[in-house]
Amino acid sequence: MQVDFLREKFLKFFQSKKHKIVESDSLVPKDDPTVLFTPAGMNQFKKEFLGFDSGFKRAATSQRCLRTDDLDKVGKTSSHHTFFEMLGNFSFGDYFKEEAIAWAWEFLTKELKISRDRLWVSVYKDDFEAYGIWKDKIGIPVKKIVKLGDKDNFWPAEAKTKGPNGPCGPCSEIFYDFGVDIGCGKPDCSPACSCGRFVEIWNLVFTQFNRKDDGTLESLPNKNIDTGMGLERLASVMEGKQSNFEIDLFAPIVKEIKKRITVKIASEKEFVYAIADHLRAAVFCIYDGVLPSNEGRGYVVRKIIRKSLLHLKTLGINEPLMNKLVPLVAQVMRVPYPDLKDKQEDIALVILNEEKNFINVLGSSEELFKSKFDAFIEKPDSETVGNVAFMLHDTYGIPLELTCQWLDKHKVCFSRKAFEQAMEEQRLRSKSGSAMKGDVFDAKGLGLKLDATKFTGYKENST
Ligand code: SER
Repeated sequence: MQVDFLREKFLKFFQSKKHKIVESDSLVPKDDPTVLFTPAGMNQFKKEFLGFDSGFKRAATSQRCLRTDDLDKVGKTSSHHTFFEMLGNFSFGDYFKEEAIAWAWEFLTKELKISRDRLWVSVYKDDFEAYGIWKDKIGIPVKKIVKLGDKDNFWPAEAKTKGPNGPCGPCSEIFYDFGVDIGCGKPDCSPACSCGRFVEIWNLVFTQFNRKDDGTLESLPNKNIDTGMGLERLASVMEGKQSNFEIDLFAPIVKEIKKRITVKIASEKEFVYAIADHLRAAVFCIYDGVLPSNEGRGYVVRKIIRKSLLHLKTLGINEPLMNKLVPLVAQVMRVPYPDLKDKQEDIALVILNEEKNFINVLGSSEELFKSKFDAFIEKPDSETVGNVAFMLHDTYGIPLELTCQWLDKHKVCFSRKAFEQAMEEQRLRSKSGSAMKGDVFDAKGLGLKLDATKFTGYKENST
């Protein structure tokens, strides 16, 4: 499989550049309260970025990651995922911009033989050093070096103005050009355009500053490198596919879902791709010990599974199917995760349970609607109805369309504005729960300066 080949090639390449190959960390970050799930390769190296000596100054990984910020885009775009693998090379006070850029270029153009004509780069607008390296050392024509600002070429994005505090720095991205036939067709189209012609494949972060409380950027004593390249995205480039979901990694899963479709709809592909993505996410969350529940990480897993079940329902698949597809995930991921096969039955059981529960909820939705909305037939209160519709969506995963059908039929007034406002509030809450907050590298949270643990078990059962 192309992904297996690329993963191995990447790790071997950086091994040859004296990097220690480190295992992927769990999706549940250890001793790190700043994130709910591991969102990037650098997360397991926060201590090393702060100067902690682990005995190695260079590392390379293929990190399993989960991001939920773009959940609603998954399946609709060619390259958004919840679960994905991120290839990364890291320097902890060792090499810096020159080597990071040169090796990224060498890997793409020499090892993978991607034509240099297809590659464009972006640099942070004030980063003359990176600009100079791309132009003079690598020989990229200036028209293919795009200067971008805080949102696109600083990591974390907009950290300069909005925080969080901690190490941060300008970054430089490498883009693959799918060609003039793709996207907007404008003659001045470039990586700054979001039409889809240019796809970012690699982000090189030059972690050289420490953002302080007053927003100043202090130079770090050690300059670090943190790079991240989406494996599925790279595979789509290498396989000549415009969608990540068309690569061989997803093919057997997509095929199996398509076989069972009984209702034909125009956006079939989007739903199938989203289900395939969410299936992998659910499998790896459970693999890492996160079970569906109503809180925190467990709620994310529940939401992902329920979203897939609604998509399956739309496609006319009303029987539990996701659990049956778990062995296919174990099969396509067998090279990096050979132990997944031994766990597949347990994982499938957890998913089956969740599927049955939600299918029951959907089956009893009529009862639920009656109990929640009957009172509003006589006494209209569109705002409260909007809030309750949101609660049904958020707690039970009942889609708004289903609720609206019932409300329409029973002539109950509904405020979409109230629903959307409640949705936005929840989005902000979950964003602050899943994104990095406070200090990016919270030394205390990382266990570097922990107070002594007090034993309270003589007086309390839980603490
Ligand atoms: N941390 C950076 C990112 O997530 C590069 O790995 O894009």
